[in-house]
Amino acid sequence: MAAQGVNTKCNLAVFISGRGTNLQALIEACKQSDFPARIEVVLSNKPDAEGLKLAEQNGLPTYCVARKDFASKHDFEQAIIDTLAPHPIDLVCLAGFMAILSPHLINHFGANGIVNIHPSLLPDYKGLDTHKRALDDGKTEAGCTVHYVTPAVDAGEIILQKRVQILKNDTPETLAARVLDQEHIAYPEAIKRILLTKA
Ligand code: GRF
Repeated sequence: MAAQGVNTKCNLAVFISGRGTNLQALIEACKQSDFPARIEVVLSNKPDAEGLKLAEQNGLPTYCVARKDFASKHDFEQAIIDTLAPHPIDLVCLAGFMAILSPHLINHFGANGIVNIHPSLLPDYKGLDTHKRALDDGKTEAGCTVHYVTPAVDAGEIILQKRVQILKNDTPETLAARVLDQEHIAYPEAIKRILLTKA
């Protein structure tokens, strides 16, 4: 962890696979002088991820490491490690990164070195289709969770959650949009909390 001096910010690596709205929220947060981090690098496992363009427009170094280019998950993860090696990284932030990480990559970044944002109130609705599953179950509340990444998917220690009420006429899409608004608040807030606690 980099020391928190006047001009020293922690270095984030943001991993994405898609549109990158959480990346956008982190980019905006990093523009604030009192935010304790900067984005050092953005990495995607999808060459056509919209978020890569966003990162480039913001002058951030970008890389794409695609699983299909490697014979094994281990080789894929080692390529990510090698790609990031020239960059000082204090915290990896998964922001819609659609790959399950093994201990090889998780351990490389040390204890609590990777965080993720998930669109449900964990431990409810790990995995995919969280909003549809919450609606199908007749839940009255949904939300998002920022948590540490461990080899067990969506099961690491919870850092922060934001809740929204489920409305009578909600569809998975309308609920997802309201939860996403909360994600964009939750992720920078959680990162700030982590880094100020560790400093
Ligand atoms: C978000 O809903 C996040 O919670 C989930 O994947 C989605 C990524 O969206 N892990 P975006 O690419 O940040 O817009």
